[in-house]
Amino acid sequence: MNIEVSYDDLIPNNVGLSDDPKLKRALEKWHPGYIDWWKTAGPAGYLEDEVYLRTAVSVDPKGWAKFGYVQMPKYRWGVLLSPAVEGRTIPFGEHKGEPAWQEVPGEYRSLMRRLVVIQGDTEPASVEQQRALGATAPSLYDLRNLFQVNVEEGRHLWAMVYLLQKYFGRDGREEAAALLQRRSGDSDNPRMLGAFNERTPDWLSFFMFTFFTDRDGKMQLEALAQSGFDPLSRTCRFMLTEEAHHMFVGETGIGRTIQRTCEGMKEAGIEDANDINAVRNLGLMDLPTIQKKARLHYSLSLDLFGAEVSTNAANAFNAGIKGRFHENKIDDDHRLLNDTYPVLRLDDAGFKLTDTPALTALNARLRDDYSNDCAKGVGRWNKIIEKTGVAFELALPHPAFNRRIGEFAEIESAPDGTILSQQDWEARKDEWLPNADDMDYIHSLMKPEYGAGKYAGWIAPPKVGIDNKPGDFEYVRLDQS
Ligand SMILES: [Fe+2]
Ligand SMILES: [Fe+2]
Repeated sequence: MNIEVSYDDLIPNNVGLSDDPKLKRALEKWHPGYIDWWKTAGPAGYLEDEVYLRTAVSVDPKGWAKFGYVQMPKYRWGVLLSPAVEGRTIPFGEHKGEPAWQEVPGEYRSLMRRLVVIQGDTEPASVEQQRALGATAPSLYDLRNLFQVNVEEGRHLWAMVYLLQKYFGRDGREEAAALLQRRSGDSDNPRMLGAFNERTPDWLSFFMFTFFTDRDGKMQLEALAQSGFDPLSRTCRFMLTEEAHHMFVGETGIGRTIQRTCEGMKEAGIEDANDINAVRNLGLMDLPTIQKKARLHYSLSLDLFGAEVSTNAANAFNAGIKGRFHENKIDDDHRLLNDTYPVLRLDDAGFKLTDTPALTALNARLRDDYSNDCAKGVGRWNKIIEKTGVAFELALPHPAFNRRIGEFAEIESAPDGTILSQQDWEARKDEWLPNADDMDYIHSLMKPEYGAGKYAGWIAPPKVGIDNKPGDFEYVRLDQS
């Protein structure tokens, strides 16, 4: 296994593609359809422009990417796996301690294929959701970050398609083709998961999406990176290095918006953060609307973890296919046959933590790990607010708030977990989630700012440039023709 990536082939790779002519042909056959998908469903109107992007050139954690200008349809999407760990064994489930699989065991074929397809489906979906955002970027820096996220989600699709084509035969080839046919939000042929059929209509939504929904992606990849199927594990481990940047884009995007809002409020002498009209008169993103957006994207992302108690999750764990977040750092027997996990459930008396067989509670556990990760980011946003002296605190809502899947799908609750009648929910949800006025206001701020080093009035510049570039660096050379 080479650490360096071969760029001699049409498809850059470190998986020895030139030694596997059958697979090489299958991927090369898939390639034109992918480019076609990119041109018709990817970033609208930016096919010719030179974008300052990073491309993976190695899987060495110390220096895996190089930066340079590239036209996006010519981006070198590659198939990259993290280096094999010698003597790796299956870390959990009933096969714990056996050598990790290099091929898919027949009995787990369909379960594994389904997991790969669902993960794969989210990758192009997010690119489709973000297709129109280039028209309203608040700066060239942000425009470039959007495109970086987009090309890497495209590469993640390649990563999953590689697994499908190499390990799942004819079924895998059919699934790979279908991944290019579904479209986010399409009524006839939608993407597989709800949150990936929602629109990402503005940049506040984009930052929230990359903070909350890409973080779900991180948790899923962390769980799959533990897999006993070694090629899946190595694929996901490399994807996680890219995923970190996507969450950086989200966290700093919201952080810079908060920064600008608070500074503007201070300059104008506005003390009450809830006086949204005063803040909006300054052309700033008011904090209550940021809070509403955070609730929306968080609750949609919680639904991605599926039902709290799930025999599918138990089966995937038992089989050694999908582990837990930081499985290798957890101090237990990694089999969970006799363990329990406290799952938040609802009965007539209200919410309570109920000890549940740990094997069936894996979705709940991963979701809790996710919530803890989100809460840390929200804490960092609150630090920004606090430093400016504005009195306001952002908070994540109760897990039952605005849910459509799992334990709380059938009920409604306030952000603090107070259970509401359907009627009360309908009457009050506009207080807690973005309403039509909020969305109109957000939309009104979405004016492109394409001057080098310039930023739209609602967002602060970043502290440092990408690849340490200076403040006036031209991250995207917009085609003048
Ligand atoms: Fe991804
Ligand atoms: Fe991502």
